[in-house]
Amino acid sequence: MKDTFETPRSPDDHYDAVSRTLHWLMALVFTWSYCTAAAHYLASDSALDKLLWPYHKPAGLLLLVLLILRAGWNLLQRHNRPPSVNRLASFGHGALYALMFLIPTIGLLRQYGSGREFSAFGLTIMQGFEGEKVQWMIDLGRDFHSELGWAMLVLIVGHIGAVILHALRGDTRVLRRMLGKVRRV
Ligand code: HEM
Ligand code: HEM
Repeated sequence: MKDTFETPRSPDDHYDAVSRTLHWLMALVFTWSYCTAAAHYLASDSALDKLLWPYHKPAGLLLLVLLILRAGWNLLQRHNRPPSVNRLASFGHGALYALMFLIPTIGLLRQYGSGREFSAFGLTIMQGFEGEKVQWMIDLGRDFHSELGWAMLVLIVGHIGAVILHALRGDTRVLRRMLGKVRRV
């Protein structure tokens, strides 16, 4: 297919400023979200858990909103993104995108199914309802949300490990693609 842009993209190009901002902002919120999850898992009902846990659901909701913006931006910019470094990177990034969507969505479905009210950032996100809970939504959340959440953490560690490995081998291009410091030669 013919490239619609003046200069074809090369693996030496960096990601655009919007993609980079969304990537690093989401990495920050993910770090926060995993702090809340770790406190809940390791020290349930402790003072730390009580302090951090109220942020878990709002952070997850924010991540889903940012993901939708990021996916929309990627779609608009689909002809203007640097090609993947290799197949493993494409596969890993694809898996991260799938999990970034599935985990908060399943969390929100569970929340809805419980019939309980849910507010975040001063807004009522779900009003809650009287009567029977939606059992399949609760089961989906109970069976998959935490497990997929921890599986994604393993993938994130692998993702960061791959960037470090490239740098140790003297190839800092991968990191610079996301820092915006690579210029085409
Ligand atoms: C991408 C965003 C999210 C990530 C990475 C994430 C990750 C996790 C992880 C790793 C756990 C396990 C904690 C533990 O074992 O104690 C967990 C638990 C939980 N999450 Fe999330 N979560 C996200 C979004 C959400 C959202 C949006 C909601 C609901 C609105 C939610 C509700 C819950 C609940 C209720 C639990 C406790 C489950 C239980 O104790 O069985 N999460 N989450
Ligand atoms: C300190 C933490 C992180 C570092 C150092 C880091 C580093 C990088 C680098 C250097 C790239 C460019 C790779 C390339 O395509 O050449 C990248 C891309 C990517 N990263 Fe991260 N990352 C971090 C955290 C995360 C987290 C938490 C997620 C999601 C859960 C994530 C998801 C992605 C995705 C999906 C891409 C592909 C590019 C895109 O579509 O935006 N990263 N990351």
